[in-house]
Amino acid sequence: MRINKELQNFESATADVLVVGVSKNQNNVPNWDRFVDFFGHPIEKWVKDGDIQTDAKAITKIPVFSSEAKIKRIVFVGLGNRKTLTPDTLREAFGLVGKTLRGLKTSSMTLWIDSFEMDEIPVSDAVIIAAEGINMGAYTVGNYKTTSNAVDVSLEQVSFISNADIDEIVAGFEVGEIYATAVNEARSLINLPGNILTASKLADYALELAKEYDFEVEILDKAQLEELGMGAILAVNKGSKEEPRMITLKYQATEKWEDVVGFVGKGVTFDTGGYSIKSKSGLVGMKGDMGGAAAVLGAMRIIGELRPNKNVIGVIGSTDNMISGDAFKPDDVITTFSGKTVEILNTDAEGRLVLADAVSYAKQQGANYLIDLATLTGGVITALGYDKTGALTNNKAFFESFLEASAETGEFVWQLPLTENDKKRIRKSDVADLNNSPGSDGHMIFGGGFIGEFVGDTPWIHLDIAGTSDAMSAYDLGPKGGTGVMVRTLATYIERIAEEDSKH
Ligand code: BES
Ligand code: ZN
Ligand code: ZN
Repeated sequence: MRINKELQNFESATADVLVVGVSKNQNNVPNWDRFVDFFGHPIEKWVKDGDIQTDAKAITKIPVFSSEAKIKRIVFVGLGNRKTLTPDTLREAFGLVGKTLRGLKTSSMTLWIDSFEMDEIPVSDAVIIAAEGINMGAYTVGNYKTTSNAVDVSLEQVSFISNADIDEIVAGFEVGEIYATAVNEARSLINLPGNILTASKLADYALELAKEYDFEVEILDKAQLEELGMGAILAVNKGSKEEPRMITLKYQATEKWEDVVGFVGKGVTFDTGGYSIKSKSGLVGMKGDMGGAAAVLGAMRIIGELRPNKNVIGVIGSTDNMISGDAFKPDDVITTFSGKTVEILNTDAEGRLVLADAVSYAKQQGANYLIDLATLTGGVITALGYDKTGALTNNKAFFESFLEASAETGEFVWQLPLTENDKKRIRKSDVADLNNSPGSDGHMIFGGGFIGEFVGDTPWIHLDIAGTSDAMSAYDLGPKGGTGVMVRTLATYIERIAEEDSKH
């Protein structure tokens, strides 16, 4: 989006749409009288009568009649009460603005950013939230329809009306845009069908990303994985004609490769379940089984743009989980990269196998902290529903610091317990060190806990995004399909700890 670096006023603004926040306590907004005077409509009366709604997230569009105004339309955004409105609600409100602007085929907007200042949200935050919300809300899923005649108009220009410093506003808007763009990229990856986004294509994408942001990159192919003895990801890949890939991106911020945070993503490009095959309806949507990988790539994009002072490694294990005469089977015993052996009880519990090798590899490559992300279990949906990411951890302080980032982004995370008894069940096998499916009771914990067997003493957070990575219907910040969940939280976490470090 082109950002106009001159502050506008009501007289000079020329955009298709002026975006204005309107609340139950509107009188506090500086220049409100000037705004009402200039547009000359009975705006105040319309607000009072409810024709312009002030309820949080209500959208009202009006055309502009004034002969002096160059603005064609005003989109009012309800903010409820300025004293209590939260950043999360404001972000969602802007998501709806994004959808509205897209619906209007708007290519330019002027944000009266001061009209979005809340008691708890300064203008400098509001502008970041605006950019994030609008750009996430305006996202649409690409398709392969041959009959579509829709002309796709996207937002191209933005300008601001404000009393604040324009440089600060522009900088904030750019940050919000960077965040939203990365989320939207992750969404698009998730939405790609499994026949198009194979493991090698995902690796190509990562390679491009690395070039763009000057990351060190390594892509291991099947022969190299065999050489290294990555028997877990190879077992999952065994039934496939597509080669697996282990993808590593390194962002080095400090001279020494130390104090490294590792993001580890599940990149299963399609999960049939293997011989423990999924049901007809369970198969649909399994192109999205690489949501963890998408989150890692999205977060790395933000890190590449903002370049925080923190070393980060991203590792993605990618393959599909297919059936053939060669496929792995229940009762098979495999040897992971770590050397630990695993008795396969269920070939549909493949994500934990891929991640076992990926996590071991991330450690070997220097990760001192691990956050793994995976659409790992249906169990997390049973436990927490579709709007909460489930977590396990072996380190309270690490997790609490991560939760602060999640509170900032509004991406809800809830920790489940991982007890010694759970670990005992994961370690129960007559023939191997571990089994990959101890039972269906509380199996989100078994899934994550299995990965925990490979992290050792390294501080670790497991995030099961099976419920949150793919939306079954549209929501305020986006359409049905890939959500890009955790992209913003991962990047925010890195930004926050980089800032903390710099204070010490
Ligand atoms: N990819 C699935 C988990 C999943 C389910 C993701 C629904 C998104 C939506 C995973 O590989 C899987 O099949 N998990 C099994 C594990 C079980 C066999 C122990 C599950 O959750 O049923
Ligand atoms: Zn599975
Ligand atoms: Zn899976």
